[in-house]
Amino acid sequence: MEVLHWDNSFNIGHVEIDNQHRMLVDMIATLQRSLSQGLVNPQIGITLKELVAYTKTHFQLEQDVMQKSGYPHYAEHVKLHEHLIDQIVKILRDLRRGESITAIQLSEMLKEWLLHHIMQEDKKIGAFLQQQSKPATVTAARQ
Ligand code: FEO
Repeated sequence: MEVLHWDNSFNIGHVEIDNQHRMLVDMIATLQRSLSQGLVNPQIGITLKELVAYTKTHFQLEQDVMQKSGYPHYAEHVKLHEHLIDQIVKILRDLRRGESITAIQLSEMLKEWLLHHIMQEDKKIGAFLQQQSKPATVTAARQ
């Protein structure tokens, strides 16, 4: 099982968001290490719950940043966040019901769950913020 590691290519260019993404990567890596040691469902469930709680905190911050900056795809992005939370809550529910998921499946799913979102969606926020922070180009009118 390949444990997730932070890579600077995950940065979107907003310090707080990047720090929280780094924290999420670390949490998933911790979970992956637990999974590779064969920890049983209750322990994994606790770590997953912590991951859900931190993810919600992160999504709230990111949504505040999007809203304040006037990000044009705010509503779609919020829907993606809700979908991501639903996915992980479903896994927690399945684990609680005693349904089994292999360590590798869970590990790969979480890695994909986070990285796909950061690289495909959060990067767009970063690009927008960068665009916003550029000084407007003023073209002098020719007389
Ligand atoms: Fe970093 Fe859209 O979550």
